[in-house]
Amino acid sequence: MIYLKRNLKKFLKKRMIKKRLLNNAKKIDRLLINFLKRQNQSLLITPMKYGVIAGGKKIRSTIILDTGKIFNVQEKKLINICAAVECVHSYSLIHDDLPCMDNDTIRRGKPATHIKFGEASAVLAGSSLLTLAFEIIADKSFSLNSKIKNEIIRSLASCSGHTGIAGGQELDLKFENKKKKINQVIDMQKKKTGKLFNFCLYAVGVVANKDKKEKNFLGNLGEEIGLLFQLADDFLDNKGSKKLVGKSVKKDNKKGKSTLLNLMGEKKAYLYANNLKKKILRKLEKHGKKAKELTRTIKFILERKF
Ligand code: IPE
Ligand code: IPE
Ligand code: MG
Ligand code: MG
Ligand code: MG
Repeated sequence: MIYLKRNLKKFLKKRMIKKRLLNNAKKIDRLLINFLKRQNQSLLITPMKYGVIAGGKKIRSTIILDTGKIFNVQEKKLINICAAVECVHSYSLIHDDLPCMDNDTIRRGKPATHIKFGEASAVLAGSSLLTLAFEIIADKSFSLNSKIKNEIIRSLASCSGHTGIAGGQELDLKFENKKKKINQVIDMQKKKTGKLFNFCLYAVGVVANKDKKEKNFLGNLGEEIGLLFQLADDFLDNKGSKKLVGKSVKKDNKKGKSTLLNLMGEKKAYLYANNLKKKILRKLEKHGKKAKELTRTIKFILERKF
């Protein structure tokens, strides 16, 4: 009986997170569609929409909204930041799949953007999504004061460029088929994936007017959540189902990617990830019930099948 109850609870929680992800995805997609409608039309809108709308878990924006709940920040003060983060993330995926990078053909259960529209359009649509992110934050109708906007823009830029995603992606590619140390791989993964999660929590700290210490605490916590997310992604490449993850699996090994999984072996890598999850959850304890949703999302990150 107790066993049944526990399983039912688990099942309901899983349904809840899926519902929350879907709800957030709808809101972000609506904002993006309306934002693009207000702009002049261009040939790139179709591949841009293909790459960012109606696909993806929107986990980063969910984490922003979850963190907002901790500090009682209204959703309307965060929603443009969510949309911007999803644009940067989708740009990084469009480029990540290109033949000159991971050379993948399936993304989110459909042909990758370069397969559908050609490489040149994919490069240009990806770059345009990156710049769209900054337009969405700088937009006049997004009513944050300009000092706060400025700090958010500065942080998003540094988390996306050579000190963030792009720098991490460069290391990821340079590390292929090389023997790297654990700390080098962690540093690479914290850049290519962790930095955007760093931004997600840091930005909420900025909007909530937190002091420097608290903002840095949030940023570092976000980076650890991002590392956990990348570890789970590596596990899914190894053990996941292509149908559920919507992309090819078992490719990291073939490409000689440097991952903790390859370096430490399955058992130790899972142990590392589980300890990291516990460490993250401990850091949230001080927020009590207010961190309930973020806690759930973090648990989902490691358990997820998609
Ligand atoms: C995949 O990210 C790439 C990584 C950084 C690990 P997601 O798993 O969040 O991709 P979508 O947006 O849900 O497709
Ligand atoms: C991608 O990591 C990280 C990015 C910043 C794009 P992966 O190369 O492992 O992501 P997937 O598995 O292709 O989604
Ligand atoms: Mg990659
Ligand atoms: Mg890839
Ligand atoms: Mg991967």
